[in-house]
Amino acid sequence: MKKFSEENEKRVQNLQSRYPNKEASLLTVLHMANDEFGHLDDEAYSYISELTGVPKSRVYSVATFYSMYDQKPVGRYHLQLCKNISCMLAGADDILKHICGKLNISPGETTPDNKFTLTLVECLGSCGSAPAMIINKEYYENLDNAKIDNILSELN
Ligand code: FES
Repeated sequence: MKKFSEENEKRVQNLQSRYPNKEASLLTVLHMANDEFGHLDDEAYSYISELTGVPKSRVYSVATFYSMYDQKPVGRYHLQLCKNISCMLAGADDILKHICGKLNISPGETTPDNKFTLTLVECLGSCGSAPAMIINKEYYENLDNAKIDNILSELN
C-alpha cells in the first residue's frame, strides 16, 4: 500500500486541522500524492480515500477531471499543451507538430529517455496569451516555434 513520507503525513494532519472537515483537503492531498508518488493510480486512490474520508470513486472522478494530476508515469518534464480554441486559433497546431517532430513523440507519449512527456490538455485559463503550455508547474505563453526551441534547449 502506498503511503506518504512521515513529513507529508504530518503536513496532511496539520492541513486537515485547519479545514472544517477532512474532505476539504482532497485537492491538496491529491497534489501532494502526485508529487510524492510521481503519478496517481489505484493504490494511491485507496490511500487518499482513507486519508480524506472521500469515497474512492469520488477521489478518482476528481483526480481524472483535472489535467494537473497524472494518471500514469510521466517524464521529468511534462509538457501540457492547450488544445482549445483560442490556442488553436493562435497557432497551437503548428506548435504541436513542431514539438512532436523535435521530440519524435506523439501526444500521450514519453521520450525513450523519460525526459519529456507530451499531453494535450483543455483550456489552461491563459487564452489572452495563447498559445499556452505548462511544463511541470510553470506556464509558458505566447508560444511560437522559436520559443519552443529555446524552452526545450534550456531543460536539462
Ligand atoms: S484556450 Fe488555450 S489557454 Fe484557453
